[in-house]
Amino acid sequence: MKILVLNGPNLARLDIRDSSIYGDLNYGELKNLIISASITHGFDADVRQSDDESTIIGWLHEAADEKLPVIINPAAFTHYSIAIRDAAELLTMPLIEVHLSNPMAREDFRHTSVIAGVAQGSIAGFGPNSYVLALIALKNLLQ
Ligand code: DQA
Repeated sequence: MKILVLNGPNLARLDIRDSSIYGDLNYGELKNLIISASITHGFDADVRQSDDESTIIGWLHEAADEKLPVIINPAAFTHYSIAIRDAAELLTMPLIEVHLSNPMAREDFRHTSVIAGVAQGSIAGFGPNSYVLALIALKNLLQ
């Protein structure tokens, strides 16, 4: 089954972000991990990244139109993009929110997720494994 795995701003620059927060994988390595874990769990994952809010909204519209499940790391948009939330609300298949770090253990401004309320669930704080856990959760949801 096809799924979209969407990544928000600055995630393509994991190579220069704080590895003590985001781990040691660069974006290419993270993408490879997601693709191979997806195959393991029976998904054909289209893994995308954008720094641009409107591009991410367009991808959510595509997922709504094509009835695709979505795993999303909205990155900083998590904390304030009502536009991404409204687009996510259009999905008819499950949406799972993921984060590499645990935003609840970080600065106060990261403690709010405007996406969580329209997601099936959220998985945060397990580094790249957050995505793997999301794939397992998605598989269980769809069985
Ligand atoms: C993040 C957490 C966000 O607070 C932050 O803005 C990011 C990455 C994560 O994966 O831990 O860019 O979504």
